[in-house]
Amino acid sequence: MRQYRIRGGKRLSGELSIGGAKNSVLPILAAACLNESETIIHNCPRISDTLETIKILEGIGFRTEFLENTLKIYPAKDLSHEIPDECVKKMRSSILFMGALLAQTGKVNLALPGGCNLGERAINLHIRGLEAMGAKICEEEKKLFCKIGENGLNGAKIKLDFPSVGATENLLIAAVKAKGETVIENAAREPEISDLALFLKKLGAEIRGAGTGTIIINGTNKNFRKKIAHEIIPDRIVAGTYLVAAAMTTGDIKLTNVRPFELAPFTMYLSEMGCNLRAEENSVTLHAPKRLKAAGRIITKVHPGFLTDMQAQFVAALSIADKRSEITETIFEGRNSHVPELRKMGANIHLTADKQTFEIDGVERLRGANVAAHDLRCGAALVLAALSADGETIVQNSEFVERGYESIEKDLTSLGGDIKLEIV
Ligand code: EPZ
Repeated sequence: MRQYRIRGGKRLSGELSIGGAKNSVLPILAAACLNESETIIHNCPRISDTLETIKILEGIGFRTEFLENTLKIYPAKDLSHEIPDECVKKMRSSILFMGALLAQTGKVNLALPGGCNLGERAINLHIRGLEAMGAKICEEEKKLFCKIGENGLNGAKIKLDFPSVGATENLLIAAVKAKGETVIENAAREPEISDLALFLKKLGAEIRGAGTGTIIINGTNKNFRKKIAHEIIPDRIVAGTYLVAAAMTTGDIKLTNVRPFELAPFTMYLSEMGCNLRAEENSVTLHAPKRLKAAGRIITKVHPGFLTDMQAQFVAALSIADKRSEITETIFEGRNSHVPELRKMGANIHLTADKQTFEIDGVERLRGANVAAHDLRCGAALVLAALSADGETIVQNSEFVERGYESIEKDLTSLGGDIKLEIV
């Protein structure tokens, strides 16, 4: 079993460079299926989700070379439409290969996706949108069998019931090779969508409106065959996690290779909580107060609102704030596995009946304990809590954290934290 052993109480300080975004590289690796020439990805995060996705690419026929943070993807001579089950079950983002392989080969079979247990995580919006473009999709024994009709993929006007990030990405990837115009309304606006669209435009796709609620794609039936290079945008969630780590340890850090305006949905709350933040073009510095102030009410929303992927980290931070705060999770119905674990460390958190609102009465200090990660951001939140707690904490199941953080233990150690990764 893999675990972190953390001794709390160390003040974080220093400078750290932030790597590429998990939630940008994963859809872009799926979109790389459309390229019949070489794709080079720079600033590619060496996280386990990337390695799993590389296994999918190689499983369907691509050859790859991953050196440091540069990933080269060589075209598949004979692209398979069968995605290996074991990869799909581990990672929800494997669903993004549906749109890519339907567009590139006209069919795809894949197991129903797995991934972090954050609630139901339906895929109805993905399926309904692809069917609107002419895909025929059926489910048998927890497997999806998809193919395009005799008229191929056709442009469609699609209005998403919810601005799903994954559904927007899947439909965007498929639409670039659907005949005619596709309009995605109520599309997700996250920065990772814009990065995916930029990648597809480098291939030759015609896309307007990425980053807004309406994306217009003029599809083509020509094949994309162009050697392209793309640099992945910085990971705003990794950056936010480390800012919260400094905030919780009276720290003083500078993060470089970030896009400060993308951090605004949560840095505004860190300022309210007493942190002194300063942004320059590609960097942000945070000077923490002696004690964090409560944040009043935070509600997670789609971009540009307070993002759900920072919710668990803020619950940890507000657990040691000076008064009561409230956070309501509106995106996932099951993103609360961090609450019982934080309670083991002395956090005073009350869950409302619908388990969507956390009422947090800040305590002076948390205490070290033996806790376990149940999903990626739950694990990150427990690491943060452990850094600020008295004594030693063991955070079990570090593999969840390794899905989205290249090496959280190296990063935090470089800032003065006392954290080790152990295999026991
Ligand atoms: C992406 O997940 C991210 N993952 C998540 O990051 C992030 O939390 C989420 O977007 C929201 O921002 C990647 O990009 C790889 P959604 P995704 O589709 O695409 C419901 C992290 O910690 N829904 O926007 O799965 C769904 O059940 C991870 O880095 C449907 O009902 O998110 C959920 O309640 C966690 N039907 C909500 O929408 C659908 O067809 C948001 O899901 C699709 C989604």
